[in-house]
Amino acid sequence: MTTEGTAVAAVAGGRGAPGQGDPYFPLAGNGGYTTRHYDLDLSYDPATRRLDGTAEITARATQRLKTFDLDLSGLTVHRVTVDGRTARWTRDGQELVVTPRETLRAGASFRVEVSYGGVPQQVTDPDGSPDGWIATDDGAFVAGEPQGAMSWFPGDNHPLDKASYAFRITVPTGYTAVANGVLTSQRSKGGKTTFRWNQPQPMAAYLATATIGKFDVQRYTTASGIPVYNAVDPREAADAAPALAQLPAILDWETRTFGPYPFSAAGAIVDHAPDVGYALETQTRPVYDRAPGVGTVVHEMAHQWYGDSVSLTSWQDIWLNEGFATYAEWLWDEQHGGQSAQARFDGYYARPATSSLWAFPTADPGEGANIFASPVYTRGAMTLQELRTAVGDAHFFTILKSWARAHRYGNGTTAQFIALSEKVSGRNLGSLFHTWLWTAGKPAQP
Ligand code: ARG
Ligand code: ZN
Repeated sequence: MTTEGTAVAAVAGGRGAPGQGDPYFPLAGNGGYTTRHYDLDLSYDPATRRLDGTAEITARATQRLKTFDLDLSGLTVHRVTVDGRTARWTRDGQELVVTPRETLRAGASFRVEVSYGGVPQQVTDPDGSPDGWIATDDGAFVAGEPQGAMSWFPGDNHPLDKASYAFRITVPTGYTAVANGVLTSQRSKGGKTTFRWNQPQPMAAYLATATIGKFDVQRYTTASGIPVYNAVDPREAADAAPALAQLPAILDWETRTFGPYPFSAAGAIVDHAPDVGYALETQTRPVYDRAPGVGTVVHEMAHQWYGDSVSLTSWQDIWLNEGFATYAEWLWDEQHGGQSAQARFDGYYARPATSSLWAFPTADPGEGANIFASPVYTRGAMTLQELRTAVGDAHFFTILKSWARAHRYGNGTTAQFIALSEKVSGRNLGSLFHTWLWTAGKPAQP
């Protein structure tokens, strides 16, 4: 059957697809609708590790829908309504299958409300890392790349579907709940404190956080007018101070290098979560599992442009996030009295052909287990250095800025990045990208 035939069958059946069709994570996201806004009302008790929530999702049907899916793993669903009317639902692995009382027309806007609760279970990624709602000794470290968002709220869990978010998080007084964007209120009553956060620019589900702990909070506004909110576990405060002190300088430098900062708030969440093993560029306010160095802050903040504002379209293109954020670290060093990016390139290039750096081509990791490996990060950054060498600094820095501008708040693909690079530089870059992005093994001496 042709693709068209399949699509027609899907419309006739009225069943939204259970995934976005991502080859690495086939069930991530869903078909048949796009989300516009998430309103997440959560309460968490660090003592019992219980999360209770209501998620209200505003969406638009892109086909006729008799049933559609949300992604949700674990937890217990109490009730689902669509446009205020109770809907039928079933659970099937990570799919919450919803059948509204009335079939939704193609193009119809609708509102789903899911009330749910339980002890969230973190997701284990193909590479073995914990992901999602990760309980800590004083709350929870919440980071969802690539799959973990579904461990704490129902939604369309693929970066293709971005939406605005509002959070209302209630915790016992004394704990701080930190999400994305701007803190709009904080009120204590009866031993509980409710934090409201607002993230108006589009965000991929994996970039949402609701990290909870006993934190020292630091707030200020940068000279350029960006409100900063840092939450720091006191056990990490001394070690984190030097890098956090650089945050305004990093924001200014990245704004000069990449173009206007895409969001209306910034900051850092420095937790004490030694078992996590990574930081994540949660939108506006990255989460760090321990005190970060300056390089890590440069990396996570660079993701605000590359990864968060400009999101990937398929997880296979993860180098568009990690290669760029890694290259930002190289550039920062080069422009702050450290090694040049070319010297870094040369150092890595000297690695033997048997090195894991050359284990697979940058833009073809082959499977989800490889998306956070060195051919994505380091060889991805090397690809950008090769591009810079080929087109010269003026074109190269124009390309970086144009990429951020052209796909701001949206998604991009590797093919679009290559096309943009060729357009800006007026060069045919096919063989450079073919070698560095797509060819297995160590590239021949450039
Ligand atoms: N994107 C994160 C970074 O800045 C890494 C996330 C790793 N996640 C994982 N599940 N292994 O490098
Ligand atoms: Zn990264």
